[in-house]
Amino acid sequence: MLTDSFGRQITYLRVSVTDRCNMRCVYCMPPEGIHLHTHDETLRYEEILKIVQAAAQHGVTEVRLTGGEPLARAGITSLVRMIAETSGITDLSLTTNGLLLEKYASELAKAGLKRVNISIDTLNPEKFARITRGASLERVWGGLNAAEAAGLSPIKLNTVAMKGVNDDELFNIACLSQVHPWRVRFIELMPVNNQVPWGEGFPNPQSAYLPISKIRKILAPLDLQPVEEKSGSGPAREYRIPGAPGTIGFISPLGEHFCESCNRLRLTADGALRPCLLSDIEIPILKALRAGEDIYPYLQKAVSMKPEGHDWVKNHRPMTRCMIQIGG
Ligand code: 5AD
Ligand code: SF4
Repeated sequence: MLTDSFGRQITYLRVSVTDRCNMRCVYCMPPEGIHLHTHDETLRYEEILKIVQAAAQHGVTEVRLTGGEPLARAGITSLVRMIAETSGITDLSLTTNGLLLEKYASELAKAGLKRVNISIDTLNPEKFARITRGASLERVWGGLNAAEAAGLSPIKLNTVAMKGVNDDELFNIACLSQVHPWRVRFIELMPVNNQVPWGEGFPNPQSAYLPISKIRKILAPLDLQPVEEKSGSGPAREYRIPGAPGTIGFISPLGEHFCESCNRLRLTADGALRPCLLSDIEIPILKALRAGEDIYPYLQKAVSMKPEGHDWVKNHRPMTRCMIQIGG
């Protein structure tokens, strides 16, 4: 078993398969993009599989594929199939911006993908194009429908809440859970790419942070009821509009409760193990892997270096990687 120094058992591996993305969300990356790793610096699918297998042999049961945009990497279905067939992995999911889901949802489901998280920050097509620097909301909607038709379930929507950007829409986005069995989750903006202005028409990134307490105030008329059953190991606290098929959750990455129950380890596309999203501690593993070394000691080392928590609330520091290079 992979147990860290604070007794937390690591059962969940988030794998970033690429640092490329077919969107450029303002809060995720600077307008000029980021330094991309070359093909050779990127883990091959067989290498990712080796790490997943080693992790699965030591108690990891859940894998999530992220990016960048995971569907932007060629042949992603074959990786999904290989991981789905890995003994010990009982839950395989994917976080996507949805642009390519129309094309891939059905084959992904057939390959063994269980469910998807889709990012939607606005229901307004023009605003969507501004936030994502050019993407089509209509295509993402098409992707959402395709995911549902393919039986990927439950469908979770990720909405990053931003003051002066989409605070006027959070109520309507929450109401989607009245019509669809979707799990809408509001995520507090993390101050990751907030040194660079987001562009014309956007507020100063440092003033866009909207705490969950404020989001809850906006949603107060919906009379949210806490959902009793514990749905998975996720960080969202779940609620329901009375009678609604879907749920509403709140994710506060900088809040403290997040760390106590953290069961995660991350793998970056260039082959580094990251024990914590908000800490720059990394264990490079690509060279060792290519040299044929045993991977388990590296997993153990990464887990043993997992910090108890983070001090971001007190001490906002710029990180060495953008969100797109970690996978959220
Ligand atoms: N703050 C909060 N969430 C973010 N994401 C990307 N950047 C940030 C940020 N700065 C979210 C995306 C997606 C998930 C992978 O991470 O919207 O839903
Ligand atoms: Fe791409 Fe997701 Fe970052 Fe947007 S938030 S640029 S969709 S990785």
